[in-house]
Amino acid sequence: MEENKKFEKLKSLRQESRLGGGKERIEKQHASGKLTAFERIDLLLDKGSFEEIGALVRHRCSDFGLDKQSYPGDGVVTGYGKIHGRPVYVFSQDFTVFGGSLSETHAEKICKIMDLALKNGVPVIGLNDSGGARIQEGVASLGGYAEVFWRNSMASGVVPQISAIMGPCAGGAVYSPAITDFIFMVQDTSFMFVTGPNVVKTVTHEEVTSEALGGASAHSTKSGVAHFSTDNDADCLNRIRTLMSYLPQNCEEKAPRQPAKDPDPAFAGKLDTIVPDNPNKPYDIKDVIKGVVDADSFYEVHENYADNIVVGFARLEGRSVGVVANQPLSLAGCLDNDASVKAARFVRFCDAFNIPLVVFEDVPGFLPGTDQEWGGIIKHGAKLLYAFCEATVPKMTVITRKAYGGAYDVMNSKHIRADYNVAWPSAEIAVMGTKGAVEIIFRREIKKAADPESTQKRLEAEYEETFANPYRAAARGYIDDVIFPHETRKKLIRAFEVVQTKVDSVPRKKHDNLPL
Ligand code: HXC
Repeated sequence: MEENKKFEKLKSLRQESRLGGGKERIEKQHASGKLTAFERIDLLLDKGSFEEIGALVRHRCSDFGLDKQSYPGDGVVTGYGKIHGRPVYVFSQDFTVFGGSLSETHAEKICKIMDLALKNGVPVIGLNDSGGARIQEGVASLGGYAEVFWRNSMASGVVPQISAIMGPCAGGAVYSPAITDFIFMVQDTSFMFVTGPNVVKTVTHEEVTSEALGGASAHSTKSGVAHFSTDNDADCLNRIRTLMSYLPQNCEEKAPRQPAKDPDPAFAGKLDTIVPDNPNKPYDIKDVIKGVVDADSFYEVHENYADNIVVGFARLEGRSVGVVANQPLSLAGCLDNDASVKAARFVRFCDAFNIPLVVFEDVPGFLPGTDQEWGGIIKHGAKLLYAFCEATVPKMTVITRKAYGGAYDVMNSKHIRADYNVAWPSAEIAVMGTKGAVEIIFRREIKKAADPESTQKRLEAEYEETFANPYRAAARGYIDDVIFPHETRKKLIRAFEVVQTKVDSVPRKKHDNLPL
């Protein structure tokens, strides 16, 4: 009998904890288009795999009447479970409890699972839905945030860290997701900003809504803070599950291999004809990617941001690869500030987690202009160069068309230790494009000529014959082969087989000094 009473107590505590801030607040959460912390975990993880840690933790604050308000779990659900059969640690903030605000104990719960994740080499997924620091707890909650930030930094490059923003995320609270590897946001119900619309209005007199200032659209298109904008909670959680299928558990492991699939014939079949004869005509580099990788495996990252470069995960014969590709459809595929930073971060992620890199190159150079120069194209372009230089994972490059100037060096060239570099017959590998080059080196001849126009044309043809092809580079061994486009997949797969056992390193150092 006595025993049953004890069981009853546990049962009722568990029920209380599942209810968070109570039915009314749960209804409010649903009415605003959001799922609860537990519902989100159920969708994120393999069915029935969740084990909670810290369900009975309560805050220790007695200021401002908090001693009379306490909820088991204290506004965050933490624990572990599985995605596609592999373990992950999860925290899911419960907006129904003090608006998901972060108290000292709430932070301790997050830190506990982060410590375990680091010790066990398991990824961490954070589902953020919080009013920020618990105001009643003052500096204790600020300290709690800093404890989380520190762990995010220590775990960076050791285990994958994924953040989903599924409600408010404001003030210093944004810096935990910002340190993690990928940020997902939910359209209409999530926002992120350091200072909200009221402060913005006071300081700059700008009138802006939360959505316009820091919603999923703003961050996935303008700032690049968010890597993925998703339609709703379910879509967001489902897409995190897909992302996880490309990633290893930690920096010591390789990503899991999946059954191989042939590429989609609709794309594979047109590789030989995809590059237009006219070098100024664009084509969609994503069609090239899809024609080479396993069907339906291309998972684009930062799809709507800096679309002059395309980055994402894919599979080649079931193996995870990170794809980086210039996109001729946007800015002619030029590298600019945003594209350089976007790609650099992706390359560094792949290198940290043993995901080989495949580069599809069609780059006329860096984007000219005061906007770019004053915006720091020197340091931002250097980030991408640096990222490729330091990467020790298997690295492959396919030059489909233009590989001009500094961008030729930057885009995973042989000289910075790429393992397998090939070019299609349509490749043009040169210091710069024909017209510009001829106008510089033959300026005097053209000026002096009886017929400047035809002289320029003749000199352009001469230049093209000499440089607008891949054979000069092939003769020097700067590319390993010139291949037919339809051979690309087979060649890359064979090259990857042989570099599976690659061991490379960088000189001993405390840490690098990436050009920030
Ligand atoms: C304690 C909070 C809270 C907070 C919300 N609540 N934020 N409790 N600390 N930070 C509580 C509310 O009192 C309310 O309790 C419940 O959560 C839901 O809040 P509502 O305002 O009713 O919800 P909504 O209208 O959806 O608005 C959500 C919100 C708003 C936009 C997040 O609550 C808000 O602006 N909160 C304050 C945000 C903030 O300034 N935080 C500090 C940021 S600075 P009841 O009992 O009514 O359900 C920061 C620094 C971090 O975080 C520093 C790290 C270095």
